Amino acid sequence: MPENLPIVEQTLEQLGADTPERVAALFAKVRSEFDQAVTAVSDEVSWHVLRDGWLGRKAGVLALVTDNWLKPSGPAMKPAVGRGLNELRGHVESAIEERRKQIEAQAAERAAAAERIDFSLPGVERALGTRHLVRQTLEEIERIFLRLGFAVVDGPEIETPYYNFEALNMPEFHPARDMWDTFYVDTPAPNQLVLRTHTSPMQIRTMERQPPPVRVIVPGKVYRRDNPDASHLFMFHQIEGLAVDNDITFADFKGTIEFFVHEFLGKSARTRLRPSYFPFTEPSAEVDATCIVCSGRGCRVCKQTGWLEIMGAGMVDPAVYGFVGYDPKKVSGFAFGMGVDRLAILKYGIDDIQVLMQNDVRFLRQFP
Ligand code: PHE
Repeated sequence: MPENLPIVEQTLEQLGADTPERVAALFAKVRSEFDQAVTAVSDEVSWHVLRDGWLGRKAGVLALVTDNWLKPSGPAMKPAVGRGLNELRGHVESAIEERRKQIEAQAAERAAAAERIDFSLPGVERALGTRHLVRQTLEEIERIFLRLGFAVVDGPEIETPYYNFEALNMPEFHPARDMWDTFYVDTPAPNQLVLRTHTSPMQIRTMERQPPPVRVIVPGKVYRRDNPDASHLFMFHQIEGLAVDNDITFADFKGTIEFFVHEFLGKSARTRLRPSYFPFTEPSAEVDATCIVCSGRGCRVCKQTGWLEIMGAGMVDPAVYGFVGYDPKKVSGFAFGMGVDRLAILKYGIDDIQVLMQNDVRFLRQFP
């Protein structure tokens, strides 16, 4: 029961309402209290409080009016009280129902407003990633060799010792295996696996798969147990190259590499070959390019020599053809393996190879 309506808890006799006019005045007072209460209702919760307070079966205002005013009144007053009560009930019920509709309509309106899209609001800017510098470099190198008629192939990063060493002319216990600090996978002896230390195993897999002529490049990750420093990573990228046909000579190799260096580092870059040793090439060479940071005058990137080593290479050793069923008397070819991460830092004058793997966006954003 609403607090400011104590009159409905008393009888008409107690209230001294002994004429129809006085009864009517009491009903008017109750009605005006109701009208104030109903306009104050603003949401579903306060609407329920109002409804229970007025229409509740036991303690609602209308129930109290029935019990305290109507029931005890004598025949003289009963018609007037009954009329007043009916009018009041009709008014209260319809006003409460009306208020319910208004509150529901407001709630629906509010929900619709929340869903409406405001096209004048500023948009949400989503940060777009860019291709990593290593990936960009790989693709740039691939494009150069694609123009020369090389195909791009992929190979496994986990290899058997057969492909990583043996078929490349390095039997077990061959000292040359020490040229690569190898990560061994923890598998029992007869099923030994390694993380490939170079992309050269793909020379073997490619020649096993197809007869000559072969012209492929193999980009990919390789792994070595090195301590990382400014020029070493324990995981880095190589691009292997292999060209095998009836009459390929060392001059073809030299021409191919000079073309590549001109395209990749610029027309002013020069190359030089140094004799070297790999078990799977004979003769073998290291390829140096003029340091593009100092144009060959000498700087800290090239350790004052003016030259930078960019790949190991050579003519495929005839013994390797024996592992893949090629006839060493009929075919010849060259192979090379270049370090992509080093080529990237060279080209862009970056003095620490480790920044390529640290994923600092302030660095990466400089190569959109
Ligand atoms: N696989 C050699 C290395 O990683 C590079 C190489 C490739 C040398 C092909 C000769 C021929 O050191």
